[in-house]
Amino acid sequence: MSFVSGFHHITLCAATAQEDIDFFTHVVGQRMIKQTVLFDGRYAHYHLYYSNANAEPGSVMTTFPYQRVPGRQGAGQVSSSAYTIPKGSVSFWKEHLDRHKTPHDGIQERFGQKFIRFRHPSGLQFEAVETEGDTRVGWNTDQIKGDTAMKGFSGTVLSVREIEETVRFFDEALGFKVTGKEGNLTRLELGEGGPNRTVILQHDKDRPSGSWTFGAGTAHHMALDAGTDEGLAKQKALYEELGYTDCSEIKDRNYFHSIYCRCPGGILVECAATAVGGFARDEPADKLGFELLLPPWFEEKRKEIEAMLEPITVPESNRAEGHAEAMLKDVNKAAVEAANRATADKLSRRTDAEFVG
Ligand SMILES: [Fe+2]
Repeated sequence: MSFVSGFHHITLCAATAQEDIDFFTHVVGQRMIKQTVLFDGRYAHYHLYYSNANAEPGSVMTTFPYQRVPGRQGAGQVSSSAYTIPKGSVSFWKEHLDRHKTPHDGIQERFGQKFIRFRHPSGLQFEAVETEGDTRVGWNTDQIKGDTAMKGFSGTVLSVREIEETVRFFDEALGFKVTGKEGNLTRLELGEGGPNRTVILQHDKDRPSGSWTFGAGTAHHMALDAGTDEGLAKQKALYEELGYTDCSEIKDRNYFHSIYCRCPGGILVECAATAVGGFARDEPADKLGFELLLPPWFEEKRKEIEAMLEPITVPESNRAEGHAEAMLKDVNKAAVEAANRATADKLSRRTDAEFVG
């Protein structure tokens, strides 16, 4: 059974905001689509969003610059966030990373795909995985064009001390199936598999557990796309039916609604449904990312919040004008389509029951 269709977003804790913006916009070549703040806690932290050209779920990376608290990498965490790149482009990416003095592990191969693993200034790991047939539209920069751009997520690599119960969670609760094993790696795929539907479990049986808190240099969670609020309610019911009783209530993240459940391997897994309007609900779709936007319930504290945040500069290359491949008429189309199916009034705990006999 599955109520999710692929990745929705991945959320990481960076260190400082400007180095994070420079890394994602110049090195990874992403479009910065939103500046807002973390909605939880007593301190103001940026929440920055980056994506492909169309700001679509499955390409959205979100970061909390969290220099205030160091994180510890380890088992029970997303160890790499993986993007797809066109087949034949991995050599370009190696040269590009060298040009930016970005640490990487050289070109490798796994499950028949060439990839390169590289690191964010805070130590977070990423991969660019050569993938055939990904039709999503990558963002262009002065150094990265359509034939080399990252298209969106391939998925994640998860570091786990034990494999079995994590496989069971992804299978029974989310519908992923094992499609390959190689060394200490187990590949899980959703539906037809491939782009945006791949999770690789890395069996690190002796690796100490990483931190679960927000902390610089660690991944916080991965999020899968449940499509609608109804999908979220069904997913929550399935978690509870299986005994994962600690699934959260449905939370309002302004641009989407979310539930969170920690999987047996320790990784926090969110399911999300894009809210009406998606990322274009509070600024024009072709001008995303240049202003600090707050949810209505934080607006009266804007001055207080801004005083706690470091000043940042968004590069001019982030502007949509002149990006022929961005096809502005399609900007955010996927998110808006998903949002049109959403039913905002269902943002509540599941109270009804459906029995299958
Ligand atoms: Fe999230």
